[in-house]
Amino acid sequence: MSQKDIIILGIESSCDDTSAAIIKNETILSNIIAGQEIHQIYGGVVPELASRTHQQNIIPVVDAAIKKAGISMNEIDAIAFTKGPGLLGSLVVGTSFSKAFALALNIPMLDVNHMHGHILAHFIDDEGKEKPSFPFICMTVSGGHTQIVLVKDFLEMEVIGQTIDDAAGEAFDKAAKILGFPYPGGPLIDKHAQLGDASKFQFSKPQIANYNYSFSGLKTSILYFIQKEVKINPDFIQENLNDLCASIQRTIIDILFHKLQIAAKDLNIKQIAIAGGVSANSGLRNKLTELGQKNKWKVFIPKFEYCTDNAAMIAITGKYMFDKKLFANQAITATARLKI
Ligand code: KG4
Ligand code: ZN
Repeated sequence: MSQKDIIILGIESSCDDTSAAIIKNETILSNIIAGQEIHQIYGGVVPELASRTHQQNIIPVVDAAIKKAGISMNEIDAIAFTKGPGLLGSLVVGTSFSKAFALALNIPMLDVNHMHGHILAHFIDDEGKEKPSFPFICMTVSGGHTQIVLVKDFLEMEVIGQTIDDAAGEAFDKAAKILGFPYPGGPLIDKHAQLGDASKFQFSKPQIANYNYSFSGLKTSILYFIQKEVKINPDFIQENLNDLCASIQRTIIDILFHKLQIAAKDLNIKQIAIAGGVSANSGLRNKLTELGQKNKWKVFIPKFEYCTDNAAMIAITGKYMFDKKLFANQAITATARLKI
């Protein structure tokens, strides 16, 4: 007898993207994402504005996801939502919506850890693309997190290294702000870096113990360097924009892979994945492919749409929780600081 198909609605609202996705077993039927441009002028996410915008977006986004999937609401077996980590006011919108939806349809709820979501996005069906097997290492690099995670099973993960201050995405965004780019500047640094000389400028790299990272010193080093050069030549940034972007990007990537290579060697693990918003960076993706060949790693690079925040990754994580009957009840609350 064949197993019944499981259809799950996933909801993501941890930061500034409102997203809803429908998954059928491990296949994504729809993944709708509404970004929030309002934060651009402030140079970063404004929590109060983020939660208000989630409120406005959530119903239309869910509606669009259900329509695009071509299913009817009563075919949904469960609703999976991001419980944390993230901005509390943003998380509360997705959590409250999910509670009401579950109650109205009388279906179970699955409270997903956002970081599990980023990593388990590698298990979404993608036209025969190979999936990692356990154990593997995933370097999770986003606007809020930078972690080296030992993934032992779908829901069994151990953080073996992490940033002690800024995340890699913050390093990109803060450097971009110094260069005059709007928020989030990471993708713009990536774009300009492709036209620049990555060895033109040198920035200091941190000396941090174990598999941990630090990026706050890099930001200061970039700021002081630029301030010094702009005093001599006010057009310094414009005249060197591509080379500055390429050099900054190379430094961040070198810092990230230095620790990842040590961890992979120490643990003797040859399956290496990347996840999170910064894994959309073209330099990072190319470097992982290059290091994979050099170190004989099998590498796993997510599809672009599953790098930055999205509900597809929440839906697939919900699927594995559903299989284990790890349901939440109506007393569940959003949790801003949630560990893996
Ligand atoms: O995972 P994500 O969407 O949200 C968080 O959970 O933080 O990551 C957003 C971060 C931002 O810092 C953004 O600048 C960065 O990912 N990012 C990139 C690129 N695309 C997104 N950084 C560098 N290069 C990119 N192409
Ligand atoms: Zn994220």
